[in-house]
Parts: sequence; structure tokens; C-alpha cells
Amino acid sequence: METENPGTKLFPADFMWGASTSSHQVEGGNYNQWTVWELEHASELAKNAAKRIPNSAVYTRFDQLPNWDDIKHEAEDPNNYISGRGVDHYNRYQEDFDLLKKLNLNSFRFGIEWSRIEPKEGEWDQEAVDHYRNYINELKERGVTPMVNLWHWTMPTWLAEKGGFEKRANLKYWKRFIDKVADEYGGIMHYVITINEPNVYTSFSYILGLWPPQKRNPLLLLNVSWNVIKAHRYAYKKLKKTNPYLKIGMAQQLANIQAKRPHNMLDELSTKLMRYVWNWWFFRRTRKQQDFIGFNYYFTDYYTGVMERHDPAVPINDLGWYMEPEGLYPLLMRVWSRAKGKPIIITENGLPDAEDKYRRWWIEESIVAMERALSEGVNLRGYYHWSLLDNFEWDNGWWPKFGLVEVDRAHDMKRTIRPSAKWFAERIEKLKE
Ligand code: BGC
Repeated sequence: METENPGTKLFPADFMWGASTSSHQVEGGNYNQWTVWELEHASELAKNAAKRIPNSAVYTRFDQLPNWDDIKHEAEDPNNYISGRGVDHYNRYQEDFDLLKKLNLNSFRFGIEWSRIEPKEGEWDQEAVDHYRNYINELKERGVTPMVNLWHWTMPTWLAEKGGFEKRANLKYWKRFIDKVADEYGGIMHYVITINEPNVYTSFSYILGLWPPQKRNPLLLLNVSWNVIKAHRYAYKKLKKTNPYLKIGMAQQLANIQAKRPHNMLDELSTKLMRYVWNWWFFRRTRKQQDFIGFNYYFTDYYTGVMERHDPAVPINDLGWYMEPEGLYPLLMRVWSRAKGKPIIITENGLPDAEDKYRRWWIEESIVAMERALSEGVNLRGYYHWSLLDNFEWDNGWWPKFGLVEVDRAHDMKRTIRPSAKWFAERIEKLKE
């Protein structure tokens, strides 16, 4: 018999339907190495907005994007590049948690901002420490499982001045931060992500030179990569010792990398190499110290010739990224074959779509991709949409709109649930039936 909802029963009853955020992108009022960088670079970013490069194999400049006329006004305004008041999530978090409930989500991923709890070297800010305790407890009171993220690229300025993860010796500061987190929250956390997307951080900050500290240095890239791995391993060990019930993982950025011309030797070779470098290098070095395998999915990238990216021209999202949401399925299968039986959680997945034209389609395709993987026995435990709220998209600033909920920063940060999010909420309920 045909059923209206083929997905029923595939998703486990305790599947974590969540949304994902990061502290610097929503809180407002932060002061870390990114804040300093934004203030220094806002005018230059605005001036060069048209010439900047979208992450796309088709468009080489932002002003070549079909939506340039819509975004230009914001993209050419220096204020776009300053995180400033964020979306005031630091103060409005209770209101935002109520939105989660409205959207039928049962889990939430958020960051603890290191620069808030240790604004000066070795000095803890008690108010900030208490803030995150209340925050976690408020989520739990609402029956929402917290997924705590410990490092999403931002660090206190005093640490950035000492070279951050460039120096092995600086790991002592990370250890002290982790010990503090373990002491303060070890007993109340459930799921913990240690590090977000180490491959993105290292390549944007140390090879492409686009993000602070804007270096292009392969040696530093290696140093930082190994130190981040060590940081992860320490956090895993320490937190597990504090509370063996914690479920700890990472949020890796993995792409569905495919050969443009299947069976073409060169294309297949480039694909294999890219998969290894981008997807599996960090993965293999951290897999052992993970209770779950977390990854963020945004991209299906096609490779041809000698490492040349060649994506289809459509469909694209507001940032010009080629969209293939169903690419989540082959990627899930590839991850599962390397997961050694560990549960998998999709820790981020989403798109910038100011007009909400594609979001519902994207989510629907993603659900289908997850159902296919579940039906083949993949132990998938959660899906976190990026993002709950419109937020600060790093060096692209405020104009890309990733939120299930729209935020009008010019009008008292008013929150409005987007139609696709309403649909998603209903879908979640149906999948639970
Ligand atoms: C990051 C987020 C970012 C999102 C969209 C992920 O790579 O973890 O911070 O906003 O992608 O670009």
C-alpha cells in the first residue's frame, strides 16, 4: 500500500532534530580576534565586494552572480562586515529557545565563547561562566538536548597575539580552558563538539589568507593542523574522564567529492586525492577519540583534469554555491564505511536563501537522502540545520541569510519564522508519527 509518509519508522524515535549556531555569529558584543579583524577590514571588504570570489567553480567574482543587484547594497556597506550586536542572542536566548520549540526541534547546537569566559589571560569572568550554565539548564528545562561546541574558530585576543594554535606551547592555554569547561559544565552537558571544521579554519586562515591571521604558509598550516588534533585529543580525554557519559565528537566539514567524468582516470585520481586531503586527513587522525562522527554538509564538488573544480552552473544559492542536497546520501555512505560502527550526526546543513526559494526543497531532499542511508543500516542519530537564525557569515558578513528564522536587525532584531521552517516543523511531526 502507498503511504503518504514513507519515512515513518526509518528515523529512530529519539532522533535529534536540531538547529545549529555558533557564538560569534549570533551572540553580539563579543571581543575576540575576529572582532578586531572585522573592525580593521570592514572598509576594504566593502570596497572590494564586487571583486570578491564566491566559493563557486562557475562565478569568479561576486558581481557576476545573477543576484548581485539584490545583494550589492548590503555587500558594499562596511557595516555589513562588523558582527557588532550580532542578533543579540546573548540576551534573547530564551526567546530563541521558544522558537526552537515552535519548530518542533528537540536539540540545539551552540558555542561557548572562550573570549567571554577568559577575556584576560588566566582570569575567568564569573558572569559569563554563569551565563552558559543558565543557558544549558534553560535548554534542558524545555526538553531540548544541548549540543555544546567548544571551538568555532574564535579565540581571545591575548591568545591570538601569542600565535594561537601556531605554537605547540600555546596548547597549555587550551588545556586550561578545557579544564575549566570540564569543571563548570562537565556534569550538565550531554553532547560535546570539540572543534568545528578544522580543514576550513586551517585552509582559510593559513593557505588562502582570507581569514585572520591571513597567512599563506604551508608550514604553519601543518603546525596548526597538528596542534588542533592534539587539542581535540586532550579535550576528549579530559572531558571523558570528568564525565564518562558525555558523547564527544567533532564537526568536520566533509564534501561529496565526485569525478566530473566518471571512469576518466585523471578525474578519478583528482577526486581520490581531494577526498583524502579534504575529507579524510583530519578524520583519520581523530576518529579514535570520537563517540560520534559529526560532519557538516554543504557541498558536492566535481573534479576534472588536474585538480580542477567544475561544478554545474545551476542550481546555485545566494552565495553562488552549486546545490546538490541529495549528495548527502553518497557522502553518508562513505562516512559510514569509515565510521567503525560509531553513530553519525549531521552537525550542520543548510543554505543562504534570502527569499526562501530553495530551503524547503533542500530540506526535503536532505530528509530523503537520510532515509535512504537509514534504510541501508547507517546509524544516523541527528540532523542539525544551519542555522536557527540569520547570522554573521564571517568575511561575507550579514547579507547571506541562512536562518530558519529571519532576523530584521534594523527593526529591533525582530524574529520571523520562514515558510520553509514551518513546513520543516510539520514534517518533523509527521516523521515521528
Ligand atoms: C561553518 C559556519 C558557516 C557555515 C556557512 C560552516 O562552514 O561552520 O560557521 O556559517 O558553514 O558557510
